[in-house]
Formats: sequence, C-alpha cells, structure tokens
Amino acid sequence: MKILVLNGPNINMLGIREPGIYGGDNYRDLVRLVKQTAEEMGVEIDCLQTNYEGKLVDWIQRAYGRCDGIVINPAAYTHTSIAILDALKAVGIPAVEVHISDVSKREPFRQISYASMACEKTIMGKGIQGYAEAIRYLAEKYR
Ligand code: DQA
Repeated sequence: MKILVLNGPNINMLGIREPGIYGGDNYRDLVRLVKQTAEEMGVEIDCLQTNYEGKLVDWIQRAYGRCDGIVINPAAYTHTSIAILDALKAVGIPAVEVHISDVSKREPFRQISYASMACEKTIMGKGIQGYAEAIRYLAEKYR
C-alpha cells in the first residue's frame, strides 16, 4: 500500500508559527512521525508540502493509479479551494483530512471545509498525532 501525505501553505512553518495554536512540533517532527507510523503499519509513504494550490492539485492528480490513500492538510486552502475538492473527487482515492488545530473552535471563516466533502474522515485538534491516526485509519481500511 502507498499513502501520499500532502501539506498546504505554512505547514513548513510549524514550530515557529503561532505555537499557542499549532504547538511546538516543527515540520521535521511531522515528517519523522509520518515515516515512523508508515513503517509501523508496513505502508509506503510520500510526505510533501507546498505553499501553492496548483501544486497540491498536480500531486493529487499524479496519485491516480499510483497511491491507495491520501492524507491531506490543505491548510488555508481547506476553506477556499474548490480545485482541491474537485481533484480529490476526480481521483477517487480514499482520503483523510487532517488539521493540527481544532478548526471547529476557531474563526467563522475556518468553519467551511471544501476538502472534507471528498474525505472519508476529518481529524482535528490532535496536533501532529492526527497524521499518525490518519495513516493508521487508511492502512487498517486497506487490509
Ligand atoms: C490548519 C488550519 C487552517 O485553518 C489554517 O489555515 C492552517 C492550518 C491546521 O492544521 O490546523 O494553515 O489546517
């Protein structure tokens, strides 16, 4: 099984950006946890980050026929991007949405998630551990 982990804008700034909201773990900690969880579950993993919406669309499209699961934190594009929603729907790969913070308890503009409309599950407010939970969910489902 191959899982693609996608991260949107500013996720590379973890550890620096608003630690009161996103915690003290940095992006390297996130990648380490993702790889460790993949190893534990016996799945192949690719973990990517970009600040560009179109790049996320490209990576989702490229996963077609190559990946069996997608874990995605579209970051701010969660709340704006119909293009990411359409890409997830187009490839039809089982996807889990992850948010480090609990967006349900934040500003009104964060209450809409387009990506969630194409995801089986949303995990939020669990810090970087949410990624581990998402990988385990997809790996167990695939078995
Ligand atoms: C986020 C929540 C988004 O609202 C925000 O724009 C982010 C990160 C999260 O992981 O909590 O950049 O997706």
